[in-house]
Amino acid sequence: MRVGGEIRVPGDKSISHRALILASLATGESRIRGILRSADVESTAVVLRTMGAAIPSLADDIVVHGRGLDGWSAPASALLCGNSGTTARLMAGGVAGRPFASRFEGDTSLSRRPMHRIAEPLRAMGARVDFDHGDGLPMTVIGGTLAGIMWTTNGASAQTKSALLLAGLVGGVHVTVRDNTRSRDHTERMLSAMGGRIRSQGATVSLAPVNELAPLDITVPGDPSSAAFPLAVGVLGGAGGVRIPNVCLNPTRIGFFEALKTMGATLRYVDQRIVGGEETGTVVAAPSSLRSGRFGSSEVPGMIDEIPLLACVAAAAGVGLEVTGAEELRVKESDRIHAVVSNLRALGAEAQELRDGLVVAERRVRLRGKAITEGDHRIAMAFGVLGAIPGNEIEIDDKDCVVVSYPSFWSDIERLASLPVRA
Ligand code: S3P
Repeated sequence: MRVGGEIRVPGDKSISHRALILASLATGESRIRGILRSADVESTAVVLRTMGAAIPSLADDIVVHGRGLDGWSAPASALLCGNSGTTARLMAGGVAGRPFASRFEGDTSLSRRPMHRIAEPLRAMGARVDFDHGDGLPMTVIGGTLAGIMWTTNGASAQTKSALLLAGLVGGVHVTVRDNTRSRDHTERMLSAMGGRIRSQGATVSLAPVNELAPLDITVPGDPSSAAFPLAVGVLGGAGGVRIPNVCLNPTRIGFFEALKTMGATLRYVDQRIVGGEETGTVVAAPSSLRSGRFGSSEVPGMIDEIPLLACVAAAAGVGLEVTGAEELRVKESDRIHAVVSNLRALGAEAQELRDGLVVAERRVRLRGKAITEGDHRIAMAFGVLGAIPGNEIEIDDKDCVVVSYPSFWSDIERLASLPVRA
């Protein structure tokens, strides 16, 4: 397989958030290697520190002194979640089991995102959840004695599922959460590794109370949602292919890689092994000629964060794409259906919004112009990939927003594009 260069991507964002949260609730010293150092994970660290948790400065190898399931204390100030939906939703679940009030605040984007999905089940468990207005941040959770719950989510949401598991864990009650389609299962895996009582069957997860969690010892694998970007450059022919070692290949996270394969990409997983309770491996992709693809609600959860990129890949390759069952994209860091379609059109591609997805028409054009990110890291990076493909000329209005999940994105893409192609 012809491969241009090797890129190492930073640690997985979802696993990094969970490692900090669960390590702070364990009894004793946890060790975390390879944590993602990005603005979103810093938000979780800040929130935990505001509740007295001993979270050190984020570094490649850190030790967290966990103070047990009742180790968080009443915050003296608001919990500042920045741009991070995972921080706000998971931590709201956790503090629902503690007998104090916690006020969550976020940036403009996060303040627009719906919190009803966690507020409703947390109220059903006995917590009070108040909003200043609507159902976004600022939000105040007043926790206390909780009752157990059996809850069916409205689709597949790892954030809602994890919020309820954390409420059950800290509150010491039974929780069962049922998704329609399996969502990412890092919380369950990590809890099981720490002695949590977790049972998973299909898309249903149950947690039973425990008195304490054993410390965590984890090496965070590379983030498949970040690997997707350099991989797309490789598939589209920039850099003559790419190899990305140590990527998390958890089956709930590889939907984008599988979609590329369905669309004809030459893409392989090699050196597969289990690291930190997660499947990992090297992803290798060669420049490929793609064909049109169509994906629906059963495939969407496995590639939810990569759909903007998939649309950009289709537009760059001149193949068609239809994605449905993805209405969740309207309430991410931006309305990603609108952001992707309006930017693709502005750059010369033919694309259309659907209520619950999008369509990209089969037409090869050179893409030229300015992409508006709306401060959304994944929109910036998806269009950044298009800009790295020879023949396209794309300006990105806000390059800095990548700090949320992949701070080294621009230098990695630049390095990849400048690598010599070898056989
Ligand atoms: C995440 C879950 C997904 C994903 C988000 C991270 C997580 O959100 O889009 O980027 O870490 O649990 P939903 O659970 O809302 O689908």
